[in-house]
Amino acid sequence: MSSPRILVTGGCGYIGSHTIVDLLESGYEVVSVDNGINSSFDVLDGIEAITGKRVMNIDVDLSETAEAVAAIKEHGPFDGIIHFAALKSVEESVFKPLRYFRNNIGSTLTTMKIMEDLNVPHLIFSSSCTVYGTPENLPVTEDTPMGRAENPYGATKQTGEILYDQYFKNKTGKTGISLRYFNPAGAHPSALIGESPTQKATNLVPVITETAIGLRESLMVFGDDYPSRDGSCIRDYVHVTDLARAHTLAIDHLLKQMNHRPYEVYNLGIGQGVTVLEAIHAFQEATGVNVNYMIGPRRAGDVAAIYADNTRITDQLGWKPEQDIQSIMRSAWAWEKARRK
Ligand code: NAD
Ligand code: WQD
Repeated sequence: MSSPRILVTGGCGYIGSHTIVDLLESGYEVVSVDNGINSSFDVLDGIEAITGKRVMNIDVDLSETAEAVAAIKEHGPFDGIIHFAALKSVEESVFKPLRYFRNNIGSTLTTMKIMEDLNVPHLIFSSSCTVYGTPENLPVTEDTPMGRAENPYGATKQTGEILYDQYFKNKTGKTGISLRYFNPAGAHPSALIGESPTQKATNLVPVITETAIGLRESLMVFGDDYPSRDGSCIRDYVHVTDLARAHTLAIDHLLKQMNHRPYEVYNLGIGQGVTVLEAIHAFQEATGVNVNYMIGPRRAGDVAAIYADNTRITDQLGWKPEQDIQSIMRSAWAWEKARRK
């Protein structure tokens, strides 16, 4: 039997590239579609160095539906789509909401058009814990209602989920899964691929590694007056290789028709909350490298604490996270050093 073929949108990005590695190592064939708006095509060399396989990338803007479908059609058929392509800067989305609506919602609509025109039966969507807004109870389960979107980026993830829910409910034979990531971090253990955005890093783990390597003088901890163990915010950091694995399990699940509903959502977090100060200390312990930090004011829009109840994904997809915060920090540091050489 030939290998299932998966179209990975945003395959040159951070999570997409790690997922491609996991898919290739699990026997899938992969084609990427990415226009490089927040990535470098050099990542394809890293994927090849790890897996021994060269992945083809179609360089087209997915928000231009007609052009994208025509370009992708030439490389079909596909058994499934994993849809990562999106702009992801919360900060930028506040200043450029239309850019985010057009790019992210436009690309999501294109994936449905691809499913129609190329007769692709299954899709996995990159959603986010941001869909919960500010949750009242912790940990959050998938039954926690979507909160009011905190920003335009969050609105694009909520919209994506709403559109897919309606699409799969009304399209016999097509199935989909949204994975709600908590805080992805870390890098492949080879240090051949990792996070290399074209935009300035704002997420905690790359800010830690950039400070440790001397690109920043010091790291600002956004608030130490939250109601947590040490006053700093709590998040659920999930290693990118564990996250990648979940996509392979999710597409397997749909291909084997093990799903009970046409469309399902899953939390994708390890289920443990870590404070900002604990994360910094974990980095220092795991690497032996000091990080200069100072306590600053709260960052606007930050939720005090959020972490996942991951019972559904562990029970239904058999996902089991294998990496902890120390391993996240070790791999992120190895990648930081490798990419600055
Ligand atoms: P990333 O920016 O590294 O990867 C996204 C990729 O999509 C990039 O390579 C970019 O060039 C490509 N892309 C964007 N718009 C495109 C378009 N119109 N046409 C073609 N290619 C396009 O981001 P990531 O961290 O790998 O995130 C992947 C997905 O996961 C995104 O949908 C993001 O919103 C979601 N997500 C990320 C996080 C996180 O913290 N990294 C958390 C929750 C959800
Ligand atoms: C983590 C913690 C900060 C930087 C964002 C998006 C979310 C999702 C994941 C896509 C917070 C603190 C950070 C710094 C700090 N993305 N921090 N100093 O905000 O939980 O989530 O990425 O869907 O939608 O909002 O992640 O890494 O920015 O912050 O103290 O310099 O680290 O306050 O508590 P966040 P983050």
